[in-house]
Amino acid sequence: MKKLIALFAAIAMILTLGACSPGTNPPAGEDNTPPSPDGTRTVTVGLIQLMEHPSLDEIRGAIAARLEEKAAENGLAIRVNYQNGQGDPSTINTICQQFVAGKVDVIVAIATPAAQGAATAAQGSGIPIVFSAVTDPVDAGLVNSLEAPGGQITGTSDAIPVEKIFALARELTPDVKSYGLIYNTSEDNSLSVIAQVKAYLEEMEIPYTEGAVTTSAEVQTSAQNLLSKCDAVFAPIDNTVASAMGVLADEAIRAKKPVYAAADSMVADGGLATVGVNYTNLGTQTADMVLKVLTGTPAGEIPVEVLRDNAVVINAETAAAIGVEIPAAYSAAN
Ligand code: TRP
Repeated sequence: MKKLIALFAAIAMILTLGACSPGTNPPAGEDNTPPSPDGTRTVTVGLIQLMEHPSLDEIRGAIAARLEEKAAENGLAIRVNYQNGQGDPSTINTICQQFVAGKVDVIVAIATPAAQGAATAAQGSGIPIVFSAVTDPVDAGLVNSLEAPGGQITGTSDAIPVEKIFALARELTPDVKSYGLIYNTSEDNSLSVIAQVKAYLEEMEIPYTEGAVTTSAEVQTSAQNLLSKCDAVFAPIDNTVASAMGVLADEAIRAKKPVYAAADSMVADGGLATVGVNYTNLGTQTADMVLKVLTGTPAGEIPVEVLRDNAVVINAETAAAIGVEIPAAYSAAN
């Protein structure tokens, strides 16, 4: 009987998850799931992703897979209502307000601007928020501290190992004498990393030029400008740049100059190298926190989980195209 119940719950999960796959987005906040006849509690997750780019898509996939895997053993049938924020603050706000009006059981927000929009919209509603891949949740104004977030919010952070990335850069391209920094000044996740990068470069007496963009359409011009002035480009964990990473990479390859990035997906899209976290693991950890919240732990009492396991990722094709030799210690892994 137990097995049958589990099987039934699993089927219900697949059906509910399947009904909410991207492309068939139901209206945000709408919940017309019938009550479960087998004792499992049916809950709705309002899942908002800032925009679609490879890394955020990977995180969402890992969250959905883990929720599906673990729902039945937590006595839950989980309905995921996925919405894409289209990188637009007012779209994000509308979606989150609909989640609140529809009384979702938890809002899961992928990337900093989505989490900030969710926090504002859910204020005073009592609806908990679990954020995913927020680089600096304290600087972004989401939590009081990592250990004790407070309020109704917690989540995972992809803190960036700035020094490790530049140590790798020194090893791969020791002749680089200046950097161009490309990022969107309205992304708090980028500002926090860029502040660390500038402090590092100033300490090392390495000159840099900043190339601010406000939309991904501006990445090409900014990249051309930086590449004409600097030996290399650094891109932080910036969603706007990540969504046009192929364009930046093409410009850099044409100029035969390296791009150091802050995410493995940006290297997969043509950047030269990074030291970064595994976003599938990050998504899985986020989902485990969602399950804790759904089974009764107040979000604000769950410490933020910062991923600290970093891996070196080098794009061998880009390295060959710009004439960078990959040290033997790394080449085996690539
Ligand atoms: N950390 C980013 C944020 O806080 C989101 C993010 C996750 C990201 N993976 C990425 C951004 C890869 C650029 C590239 O908003």
